Amino acid sequence: MDFEDILSKLKETLKNVDTEHQINEVKAEYLGKKGCITALYSKMKDLNNDEKKEFGLKLNNLKSQATQFIDLKKEEILNENLNRKLKNESIDISLPATEIKLGAPSILEKIVEDIEELLMSMGYDVVDGPEVEKDEYNFEMLNLPKGHPARDAQDTFYVEGEELLLRSQTSPVQIRSMLAGEGKVPIRMICPGKTYRRDDDDATHSHQFMQIEGLLVDKNISLSDLKGTFDMIAKHLFGEDCQTRFRPSYYPFTEPSVEMDISCHHCKGKGCSICKNTGFITVSGAGMVHPNVLKNCGYDPKEWSGFAFGFGAERLAMIKYGIDDLRVFYTNDLRESSEFDRKEAN
Ligand code: DAH
Repeated sequence: MDFEDILSKLKETLKNVDTEHQINEVKAEYLGKKGCITALYSKMKDLNNDEKKEFGLKLNNLKSQATQFIDLKKEEILNENLNRKLKNESIDISLPATEIKLGAPSILEKIVEDIEELLMSMGYDVVDGPEVEKDEYNFEMLNLPKGHPARDAQDTFYVEGEELLLRSQTSPVQIRSMLAGEGKVPIRMICPGKTYRRDDDDATHSHQFMQIEGLLVDKNISLSDLKGTFDMIAKHLFGEDCQTRFRPSYYPFTEPSVEMDISCHHCKGKGCSICKNTGFITVSGAGMVHPNVLKNCGYDPKEWSGFAFGFGAERLAMIKYGIDDLRVFYTNDLRESSEFDRKEAN
């Protein structure tokens, strides 16, 4: 085969080559150690000097042309590979972005934190108590002996016999705080926490709900201290124009007992369907700690006095955020919390 034939055969072959592997094989076939062009160099030894010179020149020329063709083809293939890869990996920047859902704090937690923050600034401790509680602390030491009619209002889940229960109120934490206080004053505590009652769930009842208990014991504490404290909490949560009032009530563990009302957040006290045209909404039970309760916990009622209150956390959140169904808090629908978060930001 003469040199021209070798070159044209190479060109023909290259037309059908389209992978990097194939081009490497062609290169080896022509220019490798055992390649057909390389083999031609061995013919030199049979030639005389003049022929060698001419043959050598032509052979070098052939080799450099073949190298050029192969290298060009290789570059072409590598470029094509790169372009294909880039195309496959390309990002369509006109596509709408994936929506990132931002979480929002639970509105119940926010109410609790709001109250905690205010009362901590007034020297209160935030304490915790067990949800599985002794009957003794949940009722008995709170002046509610077995058979007391007021127990019926708190239809209770008993856990073991008659002595262990799921606490039906956070008030047993008052007992725990006073026992831990060992007769020392002042006691200033709040306890937010879950409570349980055998209620059927509906828009206004839940078998699990949240209370925020408060207790203060010291010297010369009176109902006006309770009123002042309640007033601060109400204004902190609902704004400076929020009015408060007490109504007489009955709880076995306080004497006197009161219901604490705030002026209706919606009609500003004018009267609407939410406040049933009274202009006020009840948010908490409260009163002066009953002398029996102080005594039960080792505090002499002649020397010390105190007040206590128990807010319904869901009730506060419902009023503040205009929610009319208690189940919203327990269905874990994230849209709800972000919705209320947005409303508040606006
Ligand atoms: N524990 C009461 C309840 O669940 C609420 C309450 C009323 C708490 C008066 C108090 C209080 O601390 O003084 O209905």
